Amino acid sequence: MARILMCPPEFYGIEYEINPWMSRQRQSDPDLAREQWNGLHAHLRLASAEIALLPPAKGLPDLVFTANAALIYRRTAVLANFRHPERQGEIPYDEAWLTADGFKIERVPEDLHFEGAGDALFCGDTLFAGYRIRSHALGHQGIGRLLGCRVIPVELVDPYYYHLDTCFCPLAPGVAIYYPAAFDDYGRAALAAHIGTLIPVEDQEARSFACNAVVVGRTVVTNTGCPRLHAALSAAGFTPRSTPLSEFVKAGGSAKCLTLRLDGEEAAGWKSRA
Ligand code: ARG
Repeated sequence: MARILMCPPEFYGIEYEINPWMSRQRQSDPDLAREQWNGLHAHLRLASAEIALLPPAKGLPDLVFTANAALIYRRTAVLANFRHPERQGEIPYDEAWLTADGFKIERVPEDLHFEGAGDALFCGDTLFAGYRIRSHALGHQGIGRLLGCRVIPVELVDPYYYHLDTCFCPLAPGVAIYYPAAFDDYGRAALAAHIGTLIPVEDQEARSFACNAVVVGRTVVTNTGCPRLHAALSAAGFTPRSTPLSEFVKAGGSAKCLTLRLDGEEAAGWKSRA
């Protein structure tokens, strides 16, 4: 059974601005945020995922984005080392929860930033790693040595797509969604060289966070406003589901950012062999 970590949005809000989506002038509505978070939770339960809860903490509004807590590989969690001081306070909460759940904790060197599954995603046996805006490429190389896996670093060139999971989503080994304009020529070529089926997302749907999808089995859950992607997913044999997440888009996040797959994402080669 899929196991996913989420954090209720009790203390969620736009309290600072660390990416171009965020503006303190455009606050999220707490009741609507709670309703939308419940909607995502319900969709994942329907897809028969088990949801574990990270307790929310006052003063850490982005703790809801559990994707950034760590990179999960089997029972090892490589903890995040956030670039922005605003999010660094989340680390002890993530570490305490993951330790209590039995994960072996690993870290990147102190001077390197790393933002967990937000910037590092397995597709098959290869770890695709986004760098420049939040995470350091050098940290990714160290993670590859630690886990004994191949790492393909891809540079993120558009500040709106500041984490890899905002513009790339592995669906299964050899299959992924991506937003071409978020990468440079090298990045696009590297993705094409290693992933047989790449499903492109167009500008408008990318802005609706089409790529920020949660995959459970063949079910793919995204924000609303991604009809073309959903048609492509259906044609490829997946079951797309949409659920409104506008209040989280105000912080630069959507479905995937609100989740951390604890048993390995569907597309991870080591997961599909397990
Ligand atoms: N406001 C958060 C930040 O800028 C949003 C994080 C979204 N998470 C993600 N995995 N893309 O860090």
